[in-house]
Amino acid sequence: MPPNIIAIDGPAASGKSTLGRRLADALGYLFFDTGVMYRAVTWGALQRGIPITDEAAVTALAESAQIDVRPPSKEDGRPCDVLLDGVDVTWETRRPEVDANVSPVSAYPGVRRALTIQQRRIGLRGRVVMVGRDIGTVVLPEADLKVYLDASPEERARRRYLEIINRGETADYEQILAGVRKRDEIDSGRAVAPLRPAEDAVILDSDQLDADQVFARVEALCKK
Ligand code: DC
Repeated sequence: MPPNIIAIDGPAASGKSTLGRRLADALGYLFFDTGVMYRAVTWGALQRGIPITDEAAVTALAESAQIDVRPPSKEDGRPCDVLLDGVDVTWETRRPEVDANVSPVSAYPGVRRALTIQQRRIGLRGRVVMVGRDIGTVVLPEADLKVYLDASPEERARRRYLEIINRGETADYEQILAGVRKRDEIDSGRAVAPLRPAEDAVILDSDQLDADQVFARVEALCKK
């Protein structure tokens, strides 16, 4: 029997989503990328003209917003549908202005409380691969398998850079690297649920391993 609840944590662009999706497909489990919930709240605030610095208003939005994550309804490369109050905001959540504002939003304790409750409810149903920053430490400490996927800022910036270039867009590597470092700093330095491996997590460094090797390691852990 493979582990029922699998938690994958790690910094931005370490390959968590690629690994998580592949693992969920292989096991026939639900793939749940919790970052999209923080992104949906951030997009909602930007769209409604709520200043990102207004903690009370952003928190109220997180508490009242209906965020749904569902299997993909379109074949346009999306891993899942993200709905905010019934509206499809899947691609909006990947916009650069969301990238730039999501870390402060995810540092607000009230926002985390509201979203953690929803994530826990979904995770406890089991047969799930849940991906984020604090799944093994806070959201689902009872997870049966915890993986912490790490990679250097330079390697992660390189991947983001290639991703954008391969889409036919232009990108500046140094700017991306600065963005990765800034997000790491906020994600690791926040008071509530900072980014760190759980004590019982298996730590994998994807600087040394390509996506297939990472997957093979985790697949082997699932068979143990
Ligand atoms: O993984 P991502 O880039 O989509 O995450 C977006 C932001 O949300 C990132 O700044 C970290 C934060 N996040 C979090 O604090 N806790 C989670 N469980 C998932 C994401």
